[in-house]
Amino acid sequence: MISPVLILFSGFLYHVAIAGRTCPKPDAVPFATVLPIKSFYEPGEQITYTCQPGYISRGGGMRRFTCPLTGVWPINTLKCLPRVCPFAGILENGAVRYTTFEYPNMISFVCNTGFYLNGTSSAKCTAEGRWSPALPVCAPVTCPPPPIPKFAITSVYKPSVGNNSLYQDTAVFACLPRYAMFGNDTISCTEHGNWTQLPECREVKCPFPSRPDNGFVNYPAKQVLYYKDKATYGCHDTFTLDGPEEVECTKLGNWSAQPSCKASCKLSVKKATVLFQGERVKLQERFKNGMLHGEKVSFFCKNKEKKCSYTEDAQCIDGTFEIPKCFKEHSTFAFWKTDASDVKPCESDS
Ligand SMILES: *[C@@H]1O[C@H](CO)[C@@H](O)[C@H](O)[C@H]1NC(C)=O
Ligand SMILES: *[C@@H]1O[C@H](CO)[C@@H](O)[C@H](O)[C@H]1NC(C)=O
Ligand SMILES: *[C@@H]1O[C@H](CO)[C@@H](O)[C@H](O)[C@H]1NC(C)=O
Ligand SMILES: *[C@@H]1O[C@H](CO)[C@@H](O)[C@H](O)[C@H]1NC(C)=O
Ligand SMILES: *[C@@H]1O[C@H](CO)[C@@H](O)[C@H](O)[C@H]1NC(C)=O
Repeated sequence: MISPVLILFSGFLYHVAIAGRTCPKPDAVPFATVLPIKSFYEPGEQITYTCQPGYISRGGGMRRFTCPLTGVWPINTLKCLPRVCPFAGILENGAVRYTTFEYPNMISFVCNTGFYLNGTSSAKCTAEGRWSPALPVCAPVTCPPPPIPKFAITSVYKPSVGNNSLYQDTAVFACLPRYAMFGNDTISCTEHGNWTQLPECREVKCPFPSRPDNGFVNYPAKQVLYYKDKATYGCHDTFTLDGPEEVECTKLGNWSAQPSCKASCKLSVKKATVLFQGERVKLQERFKNGMLHGEKVSFFCKNKEKKCSYTEDAQCIDGTFEIPKCFKEHSTFAFWKTDASDVKPCESDS
């Protein structure tokens, strides 16, 4: 026999269970999904937490909870952590830019100069924990065999990988005889995999050199004179060559110099002590055969007030030799006079 009171009481309990002790909407867990999602759950109903793609729970697997009669969800310690892709912090001959290697981050790559990216410049850590696309490599830049300029030969060249060259490898060219080089004779393999600008070889002719007055010029007995041909100059006696003895046909089609013959100088002073190449010499003895064009001496002059001596230069220029005005020549008989070269030098006036 069941007491009516007991029936009433159990009816009351049942009412409390369904009306008062439902579970609320469960707490959200970062990067996890709850199913099913409702605004309340009856006791005995189940929910499942699953980590979102790219995240894994610390303990592994999913978490299932049942709404208890108390209407309070059990404490949920689930943590969904991002997947970590394999370490990718080092790129040989290049560099990797990254913050972390976790889902869903991107990392990017650059190669050192002379290397190029074989692959993409960035990759993403996928939900599966793999790099996508696959990690690149930095491959060395190569240049194909260099072209050879017209009228040139390769004087230095050696391929370094198979038939190709590496970044900064060089090749050197030389022009055939009679041809002059315009541009750099050395080319190098650039970081772009091409060569720097090729030089050009051009045929260059020079006119016949003209004979200098009071002298002569010799050059090869040929129909035409070309780049690098040489001519030599000389002067008749007492004349001095002004310029180099040998000249060369330049790449500009003219001669490296135009030497001329310059006259010597006769001396109009009989007695003078002068400085010649740093030494005191007697002018008339040292230059008894005259002075050559270009030769230079320093005369001594007197400063009467200060009773001291100073020097002034004079040079033989194509037959003309001007004695400095301050120079006083003494007669051989004026033995009591002191020559300027024997007077103490003046302090340099500064
Ligand atoms: C570039 O990458 C591709 C694919 O990974 C590979 O087959 C090729 O050999 C690589 N080339 C160089 C020069 O490293
Ligand atoms: C180099 O070039 C030659 C001639 O073109 C060719 O026969 C050879 O196979 C090449 N070698 C390499 C390593 O590419
Ligand atoms: C020629 O090129 C080489 C290498 O490419 C460089 O080092 C050199 O300075 C260049 N010379 C001139 C005169 O430009
Ligand atoms: C080499 O290639 C780079 C990049 O494509 C280009 O800018 C440069 O002008 C090229 N150099 C020569 C000498 O062709
Ligand atoms: C050769 O010719 C060039 C250009 O015409 C000129 O600048 C140069 O001075 C000449 N050289 C000589 C030694 O005359």
